[in-house]
Amino acid sequence: MSAKPRVFVSRVIPDAGLSVLEKHTSPAIWPHDRAPTRDELIRGCKDAEALVCLLTEKVDGEVLTAAPTVRIVANVAVGFDNLDVAAGTRAGVVMTNTPGVLDDTTADLAFALLLCTARRLAEGDRLMRTGTWGGWGIMQLLGHDVHHATLGIVGFGRIGRGVARRAVGFDMKVLYSDEFPAPPEVERELRATRVPFDELLAKSDFITLHTPLLPGTKHLINAQTLGKMKPTACLINTSRGPVIDEAALVVALRSGTIAAAGLDVYEHEPKLSPGLVELENVVLLPHIGSASYATRGKMAEMAANNVVAFFEGKAPPNALNPEVLTRA
Ligand code: GLV
Repeated sequence: MSAKPRVFVSRVIPDAGLSVLEKHTSPAIWPHDRAPTRDELIRGCKDAEALVCLLTEKVDGEVLTAAPTVRIVANVAVGFDNLDVAAGTRAGVVMTNTPGVLDDTTADLAFALLLCTARRLAEGDRLMRTGTWGGWGIMQLLGHDVHHATLGIVGFGRIGRGVARRAVGFDMKVLYSDEFPAPPEVERELRATRVPFDELLAKSDFITLHTPLLPGTKHLINAQTLGKMKPTACLINTSRGPVIDEAALVVALRSGTIAAAGLDVYEHEPKLSPGLVELENVVLLPHIGSASYATRGKMAEMAANNVVAFFEGKAPPNALNPEVLTRA
């Protein structure tokens, strides 16, 4: 590398990533504890050769046109629905994500949310904090058993399989639906059976979503699919908010179409659909699926390494559109 490439980093990221960037590049870091607006993002990218961004930044053709010096966009997230990869390819810009390093951490959170929702932990916590607990009650905060229940996993990739691995310890029966069957040894190890989506909806006590947000998965959970679930079902979402039609979910939770939901992601983050916060039978987390010290460090480091590899003339290990590299 000759002159150090200029990199705009759209938020303070963990040191594990910043130290790599500081060593090999010339980073300019967005100093505020909020996402830059679109204009601020474009201004930040002025003269930058790389952008390290988070899932809160929408990087599309318009941004790339307004920031023509940027040659690589490294997303500090595995989900990349915030990136228009096709626009990147057209503009000759490499885009990367952070697969693999957050699978177990996100699976832990999904399982924690499942337990929290099933056993009404957040309601119990609210009861204690408001000083309204009158003592042990035999009918108090009755929830749903997780052990021996049927878990339906929608999307059986790395994170979905991680949740299945955790479910084995709870003696759950695991169903999954995915476009592709898992190898037989994986199905055996995780005691998981692939079923059609409608069957999963009808048979599961818990349904957990682990699909990327794609045109075909937007509103996969809607009034109709909610109506196919058991009235005792709990729905867990740690994937992407728009996979659920949130307005339809509010109606379903209110009317008892399903029993409860545990959400870490929302259709219009950071806004919540009207009616959601008033419901007792929903647990709401602020998109913290991968939020452990170790994992966020690994994600930042991975994004930084993609940028460094690119400027060293190597293929970034996590390129989403590697065809850009061979075309150059
Ligand atoms: C977090 O949601 C991620 O996609 O990494």
